[in-house]
Amino acid sequence: MCGIVGYIGSKDTKEILLKGLEKLEYRGYDSAGIAVHNEEGVHIFKEKGRIADLRAVVNEDVQSSVGIGHTRWATHGAPSFYNAHPHQNEDSRFTLVHNGVIENDEQLKQEYLLEVPLQSDTDTEVIVQLIGLLSKEGMTTEDAFRKTLSLLKGSYALALLDKEDKSTIYVAKNKSPLLVGLGENYNVVASDAMAMLQVTDQFVELMDKEMVLVTRESVTIKNTNGEIIERASYKAELDAGDIEKGTYPHYMLKEVDEQPFVIRKILQSYQNEKGELTIEADILNALNEADRLYIVACGTSYHAGLVGKQYVEKMANIPVEVHVASEFVYNMPLLSKKPLFIFISQSGETADSRAVLVKVKELGHKALTITNVAGSTMSREADYTLLLHAGPEIAVASTKAYTAQIAVLSILAANVAKSAGIDIGFDLVHELGIAANAIEVLCDSKEEFEKIARDYLSATRNCFFIGRSIDYYAVLEGALKLKEISYIQAEGFAGGELKHGTIALIEDGIPVIALATQKAVNLNIRSNVKEVAARGANTCVISMKGLDQEGDRFVLPAVHELLAPLVAVIPFQLIAYYAALHRNCDVDKPRNLAKSVTVE
Ligand code: F6R
Repeated sequence: MCGIVGYIGSKDTKEILLKGLEKLEYRGYDSAGIAVHNEEGVHIFKEKGRIADLRAVVNEDVQSSVGIGHTRWATHGAPSFYNAHPHQNEDSRFTLVHNGVIENDEQLKQEYLLEVPLQSDTDTEVIVQLIGLLSKEGMTTEDAFRKTLSLLKGSYALALLDKEDKSTIYVAKNKSPLLVGLGENYNVVASDAMAMLQVTDQFVELMDKEMVLVTRESVTIKNTNGEIIERASYKAELDAGDIEKGTYPHYMLKEVDEQPFVIRKILQSYQNEKGELTIEADILNALNEADRLYIVACGTSYHAGLVGKQYVEKMANIPVEVHVASEFVYNMPLLSKKPLFIFISQSGETADSRAVLVKVKELGHKALTITNVAGSTMSREADYTLLLHAGPEIAVASTKAYTAQIAVLSILAANVAKSAGIDIGFDLVHELGIAANAIEVLCDSKEEFEKIARDYLSATRNCFFIGRSIDYYAVLEGALKLKEISYIQAEGFAGGELKHGTIALIEDGIPVIALATQKAVNLNIRSNVKEVAARGANTCVISMKGLDQEGDRFVLPAVHELLAPLVAVIPFQLIAYYAALHRNCDVDKPRNLAKSVTVE
């Protein structure tokens, strides 16, 4: 969370920083700030709220050729003007922006900063005050920065300005993402390439614990001993158009509509010349050698993992465990003899998932990351990567990454089954194609879902989702979508479990959305619907063609039962979208959230 940018060169620094921050706003939007350096000194503009609020306080007349910026998702200290970055040391010589969490900030305060009056509640200020202190003791800026980095425990992506030297931005990273971008007579710094596509598509990856000196003409990467490291740049395979909303009112709606295309893109990317869906041989070997798969993920990606478990177990007969990353890391289950870890992460940067990845690598296990972002931290740190090919997902609520994760997991499972000589009994290419068409039909039925949102959700504070079997996993995602963007308290339950306690919450008019796409449990879920209806619930059944009954509110086009979550999630995404719109919620940037959760 939090996004940082930096620019050094002769273009309009302020505007490049502000535009960059606008592209990083998905990483947090509690406050924002920039610092620009010119002959008169360092000018800081910051504001609580969003980049638009920051723009309103930036003095248009200040010109400068070097600057840094920050958009914040609050961790240490409330969202406020005083806690907004950039932060400065006591005599304002150094100015710093930071993404990450310093775990030993209190200890550093006690050890070094008792005499220094702090201006904020942030862990970031500790870093910049320490640099100031060490510099006063006679260290060069580079040495003071390096020494400070050696004292920090936790995660950081940092960009530092020194009032005494307009020619350099000092940069460092550990666990939080950071890139340097290259230009003709200018260079840039950003948490994500998207932020700087406006000026370059050439980037250099940075590794943990590295420190970088960025000037107009050069980028010098150094390791912890101060030795220079050479690293080639790469071209970011991102199209500036992919990150624009176009004519859509919200990124979320655009990303929902992109899902048929994403499924087709995945089919294309994973098909060989014979038209078969394949994955790389070394990944397949690792999967074949494992006696158990451990899927680890958070949030929506965790929900996709639950569906993936069904695929691997049903198609390929290998046992799979699915774990929430934040629990797994501190409460690891007994592992099998030959485990293989699969991390599912849209961003490839989620701190909770990454912490598990680091831990299992330390234990000597192999890991595969399934991610949307090539070159992301978790992709680099795992032994293998499978890409989602979903294109940039910008709305905070994940939509197309979820369907892409499910599609890729189905391909993985089918490959493992094939190499074990198991016939899965259907043509996955064909069935995924049918699912893509079904999603397209659903995307064209938006007014139906707007009506459902209006009829069931306009006057409620709570909503239940129920499903059985694989539908249970789909309704967990439906509930998450609804609660995160509309703030309606929504919970997903296994249909049969409700009567073991939760049914006590059912009262007159409470909406219960039931999913019925699985033949084996169709009658059972129908009974659960009757149970809640008898207690006054306002039931809304979404069923699959062929299993539908009179009175169902919406019937999904028929797809292969195992692929039902791919299509069933579309109504859930759109119902959530319209429920949020009806409540005037900020669909793309729901309160308290950020897209890339890089703190544990
Ligand atoms: C919900 C959502 C989150 C993410 C979770 C993991 O819409 O987007 O629940 O799924 O924070 O993020 P990634 O997949 O980037 O690891």
